[in-house]
Amino acid sequence: MIFIATGMALAACLTTALAAPTQASAPLPNFSLVAEYRDRSFFDGFTAFTGADPTGGRVRYVGLEEAAQKNYTGFHDNKSTKSINAYIGVDHTSVTPYRDSVRLSSKHTFDVGSIVVMDVVHMPSAFGAWPALWLLGDNPGGRWPDTNGGEIDILEVVHNGDVNAMTMHTGPGCTVDKNAAHLFQGQLQDPNCNAGSPQPGTTGCSVQATNQASSRGVTLATAGAPFNQQEGGVYVTVWMESGVSVYLFKREALPSGLYNGNPMPELWLTKPLAHFSGPGCDYGTTFNAMRIVTDTTFCGDWAGKVWDAFGGPAATGSATCEAYVQNNPGAFKDAYFEIKSIQVYGRNGKMPALKAASKREEFAFADIDLAERYRDSANVSMANGTYLGQHGHGHGHGTHSHFH
Ligand SMILES: *[C@@H]1O[C@H](CO)[C@@H](O)[C@H](O)[C@H]1NC(C)=O
Ligand SMILES: *[C@@H]1O[C@H](CO)[C@@H](O)[C@H](O)[C@H]1NC(C)=O
Ligand SMILES: *[C@@H]1O[C@H](CO)[C@@H](O)[C@H](O)[C@H]1NC(C)=O
Ligand SMILES: *[C@@H]1O[C@H](CO)[C@@H](O)[C@H](O)[C@H]1NC(C)=O
Ligand SMILES: *[C@@H]1O[C@H](CO)[C@@H](O)[C@H](O)[C@H]1NC(C)=O
Repeated sequence: MIFIATGMALAACLTTALAAPTQASAPLPNFSLVAEYRDRSFFDGFTAFTGADPTGGRVRYVGLEEAAQKNYTGFHDNKSTKSINAYIGVDHTSVTPYRDSVRLSSKHTFDVGSIVVMDVVHMPSAFGAWPALWLLGDNPGGRWPDTNGGEIDILEVVHNGDVNAMTMHTGPGCTVDKNAAHLFQGQLQDPNCNAGSPQPGTTGCSVQATNQASSRGVTLATAGAPFNQQEGGVYVTVWMESGVSVYLFKREALPSGLYNGNPMPELWLTKPLAHFSGPGCDYGTTFNAMRIVTDTTFCGDWAGKVWDAFGGPAATGSATCEAYVQNNPGAFKDAYFEIKSIQVYGRNGKMPALKAASKREEFAFADIDLAERYRDSANVSMANGTYLGQHGHGHGHGTHSHFH
């Protein structure tokens, strides 16, 4: 089930809220689960973008049905943890100039007063690859990065990078406080979210992560190979009128309320990796109607331009990013996202808007055997998942760019 606001969730939420100490000041915002993407219904909540990559990548984005048939998407049924995770991979067998990949957009759009919780087990980490988990405004007829509703990048690296870059891209008039460094752990680059040349907004305001000490004193890697070695983590984006925060938590050490459906970010003691705040931006209107997006592209406007800077030629023996991506399919076997769940909490149960899907289709997602890619090869199931959701093709995301 993708869209939930069950009596149970609200009851749990109320019980916890009543048990909390009374505040003399204004009551804390009351969040409840409004959308959830997980288990065998994960893909029901997404459509696949099949247009040309707006960032100029060497990629061919395929539809959900083709992705399922070719096992670019599927499920990882981990018997030892009794969890069924979504697998979102790429073509890792063909020599091809435009490598097949999948770009998913959530059917629901979300607005200010949302907490997006992404439990990521594995992310692509490979020379040539540019993976991202992000939010993209999708106002009909809007132009990136201003009238579309902006962009918030939550988890993003290129090549063998292992330092997450969290970035906001907007039109003019959104500049974050550059003197708020004490409020977060990362390092702010340009505070102007419309920064970029020649096209304004393409650089945006970005915070480079540093390693983060969790609430139990554990240091977490934020991206790339070390992130995968620690079996990922839980990225939490808190989007309020006062600003946007991105936290990373260890799966087994979630903060107050996150594990029981009643998150209370005001009470979290851990500093976020990034906190975009200050009066120079209206976070409630600049960003709106945002979809959750996940994609892996290759080379293009960011990864392609920093091939030399990342030591691509020496590391791969290939002079260009494009040639490497074309000729080395096996290098992309590990270029996959494995996602345990994505949950969205809304303030006072505020429901997200649902974009109507045009067509109903049924097809099967296979279980992907990841055992060979893990050293400890636990059991994996070979049973199929069944897709019973709705989906359509080409929803006009091609008018939006995603630059860096
Ligand atoms: C997809 O995975 C299933 C289950 O592992 C397998 O039987 C099938 O042959 C795979 N299909 C392709 C096109 O690789
Ligand atoms: C929380 O929000 C829900 C949905 O609007 C509402 O039913 C409930 O009464 C609220 N709880 C508190 C403690 O404010
Ligand atoms: C199953 O999950 C556990 C815990 O996250 C992990 O250590 C193990 O590698 C996983 N097994 C497979 C086959 O992925
Ligand atoms: C793997 O499967 C075998 C045979 O079905 C079983 O005996 C074993 O307990 C399983 N191991 C795990 C970790 O689930
Ligand atoms: C998996 O899907 C294929 C193709 O739809 C089908 O032939 C096969 O019977 C399914 N296997 C299982 C275990 O459901």
